[in-house]
Amino acid sequence: MTTATKKHAHLLGFIQHGVNSHATGMWRHARDKVEWNFARPEYWQHMARTMERGLFDAMFIADELAPYNTHEDSSDAIVKWAVQCPTHEPSTIVPIITGATKHLGVGVTLSTAFEHPYSMCRRLSSLDHLSSGRVAWNIVSSYSKSEWDAYGQKMTDRSGRYERLEEYMELCYKLWDSWEPGAIIADKASGIYADPEKVKVVSHEGKYYKCNGRHFCAPSPQGRPVLWQAGSSGQGRDFAAKHAEAIFAVHPTVERMKGYASDLNERLSGTYNRAPGSVKLIYGLQTVVAETRSEAQEKYERIRACIPPEGALAWMSGHFGLDFSKFEPDAIVQNIEVPGIQGLFDSIIYAKGGAPVTVKEAAMIYAQGMGMPVAIGTAADIADQIEHYMDEGGADGFMLAATYTPGCFEEFVDLVVPELQRRGRLRTRYQGTTLRENLLEH
Ligand SMILES: Cc1cc2nc3c(=O)[nH]c(=O)nc-3n(C[C@H](O)[C@H](O)[C@H](O)COP(=O)(O)O)c2cc1C
Repeated sequence: MTTATKKHAHLLGFIQHGVNSHATGMWRHARDKVEWNFARPEYWQHMARTMERGLFDAMFIADELAPYNTHEDSSDAIVKWAVQCPTHEPSTIVPIITGATKHLGVGVTLSTAFEHPYSMCRRLSSLDHLSSGRVAWNIVSSYSKSEWDAYGQKMTDRSGRYERLEEYMELCYKLWDSWEPGAIIADKASGIYADPEKVKVVSHEGKYYKCNGRHFCAPSPQGRPVLWQAGSSGQGRDFAAKHAEAIFAVHPTVERMKGYASDLNERLSGTYNRAPGSVKLIYGLQTVVAETRSEAQEKYERIRACIPPEGALAWMSGHFGLDFSKFEPDAIVQNIEVPGIQGLFDSIIYAKGGAPVTVKEAAMIYAQGMGMPVAIGTAADIADQIEHYMDEGGADGFMLAATYTPGCFEEFVDLVVPELQRRGRLRTRYQGTTLRENLLEH
């Protein structure tokens, strides 16, 4: 492969609007948020500028709507060990991030469970305007019981959630597509702003939603946000293959990545008449980089030492919807269907290449970064691993899970980005103006 024909990696910084992201216990690391406060705009402006300096496609803001409460039927351990808690509302930081940058996109996780499609579309169209077309929506439907409890509703099972989500999307598309080209006239002399003939009234009466009204926002630069999805169950993969423009997954081994890529491509072309490769496959990756391998290994050990075992177990219980406090620590985790995030559960089952994994081991692996592979070493080591996942695992890009912030992203941008560029694996400038244009680049 020549440098010109090599696929470029799409990079996303995977974080949360909270004191801790996806590496449990990181808030207590000596290098975490030194002189930064996650609840202040300056922190997000700095994170955004750092990612833009590294020519990332976007910042990916993960979210959940309430502290998990599966572990011992309580959210005590979640609160105690800062397991994705506190977490602030994610869309509030989008204009701060896009206001501090010119090219960086933002993918915001918003659940469909408790919000009507009408206000969801309005919010996302507004954000797309304010960012000049740099917004993506990570579509989720609330897999966690704690969210349903917090909103005072009875939880729907996976199949019910996906059925409802289908109708949700149908209504969203109707709203986003309801302003026809040429609808805005803006003729000051006559005083006519828009042609009502070209702004359709959306009338929808379905099993789950009703709507009778016009979309309240003028067409945004991207028309609709870039659609992201991370469902990994059979139904989740079908939903992603039908709707998503980028799909997120965590696979601990290259064999699992390969299997996932071919499964997804089959669904795309076989069932949904979409070209294989037309949807970007973005895999989770955690990196620990240093000038030497031994220094990187030491850094990694310091990161692991921050993980609180009880918090780890509580997090796993929250994500998978099973109370792991009821299991013996040395029991083997069985490959079963879980009520929570099935795809991430697989990352535990295959964490040791298919060899049995105990509950205790699973918790520590998971708490480190949701079962993502961890690339530890020099910039060249990490670039080798990235190239391997792209060439052998079908990855189009990576969601880089935060360890200590903003340091982990500064180090990645300073050390790994130039190495990837030297190898022709990363853009040297942004080509497009919208997130969709940048994400769809080869
Ligand atoms: C990499 C990855 C990131 C995810 N991030 C979130 C998130 O931030 N918020 C959320 O509610 N669900 C998140 N999920 C959950 C899924 O989007 C999906 O709702 C969940 O996996 C249940 O669907 P499934 O059973 O088809 O996997 C994530 C899943 C994966 C694999």
